[in-house]
Amino acid sequence: MKILSVVGARPNFMKIAPFLRAVEAYNANRRDEAALEHLLVHTGQHYDERMSQAFFEELGIPQADIHLGIGSGSHAEQVGRTMIEFEKVVRARRPDWIVVVGDVNATCACSITAKKECVRLAHIEAGLRSRDLTMPEEINRLVTDRLSDLLLTPDRPSSDNLRAEGVAEERIKLVGNIMIDTLEHERPRVERLDVREVICRNRLAALDSERLDRAEPGRLAVVTLHRPSNVDEAAHLSRLVTFLVDEVARELPVVWPMHPRTRNQLEAFGLWNTLAASPNVFLLHPVGYHDMLRLNMDARLMLTDSGGLQEECCVLGTPCLTLRNNTERPVTLREHGGASVLVGNDVARIRAEYRAVLLADRRPRRPEFWDGRTAGRIVDALVAEERGRQVPHS
Ligand code: UD1
Repeated sequence: MKILSVVGARPNFMKIAPFLRAVEAYNANRRDEAALEHLLVHTGQHYDERMSQAFFEELGIPQADIHLGIGSGSHAEQVGRTMIEFEKVVRARRPDWIVVVGDVNATCACSITAKKECVRLAHIEAGLRSRDLTMPEEINRLVTDRLSDLLLTPDRPSSDNLRAEGVAEERIKLVGNIMIDTLEHERPRVERLDVREVICRNRLAALDSERLDRAEPGRLAVVTLHRPSNVDEAAHLSRLVTFLVDEVARELPVVWPMHPRTRNQLEAFGLWNTLAASPNVFLLHPVGYHDMLRLNMDARLMLTDSGGLQEECCVLGTPCLTLRNNTERPVTLREHGGASVLVGNDVARIRAEYRAVLLADRRPRRPEFWDGRTAGRIVDALVAEERGRQVPHS
């Protein structure tokens, strides 16, 4: 059985690493004819060293067999260019299955191409729904799930979403959250890291030791923002920056790994210098997986608009202010036992919840099947599907 899996952007890399290890483990005890043949395609949506290659190296992902070199562009440009290049690959390699992960433009583009080429499609992280069609990721999820033959879901609400959309029961497999496989696999290495060294090696500007001493382990306010709803409007971004500099940074060291898009916007809106001049704000390059996990472990709280970080905060118990009005990951919310609270982008709301979470304890929580063994269940489901027999449903 020949499997071709696809990655394109940063959040895909931690989802594919455990899957590749599980394919290898499956093959370890099998003769050639029973072994899985695997090819990895990188579309190149993310291409900076720090957004892409660094993750391959630290997560032990082998070099992609095929690199499409798509790069930046509008959504239509990214999706269109990916489909054109990916079609050539599918026609040349004729896989039995195409495996896509997550919800980025590469996921959607390759799903459409897979089905137009009549190749079976499996989606890892199926069924997440924010019901917010202003998010490009939601469109990518809907298209991908509508086309997938095997929908591998991370939690029960996601399976229920698919049922409600009329997906046949036998195509839905609850396998758990593959991101947590990576977290558990990398955790021992990350536990040995020192958070001040993480800050130092990723800093964007010079740091003297007196400043670095302020970055006290366990007391960090870690910030990550990249969504257009938070970073594309000057007045809004300016209010957020003022809140971080004038309020949060007076109490806690603020550590902010910068997405390239956010840095561009801060510079364009004249906000970069305000941040850089604040002695208790630490601006970092986009950080690697291990370094981000270390920052999370040493966070007093997280302020983020990332989906993956909500999940990692849930398992680590880091109080998380999610700067969005909705989430496709409800199991991570406080009302469902998780660590995250939706605060939108209204500063009054963010301030109130910020005050509240400073009083909250770290409460790690592990939703069902977030046990570090999701990738093995995925390989089993693919093999069972290929053999045309049922695997037990959850
Ligand atoms: C993408 C994903 C989003 C994910 C995020 C994580 C989609 C629709 N969005 O958003 O789900 O949470 O990645 O990072 O696929 N850029 C660089 N170097 C890079 C990559 C991007 O400089 O390696 C800059 C480019 O100017 C680009 C901008 O960042 O235009 C945005 O990149 P893009 O891939 O369009 O989307 P993200 O905002 O990163």
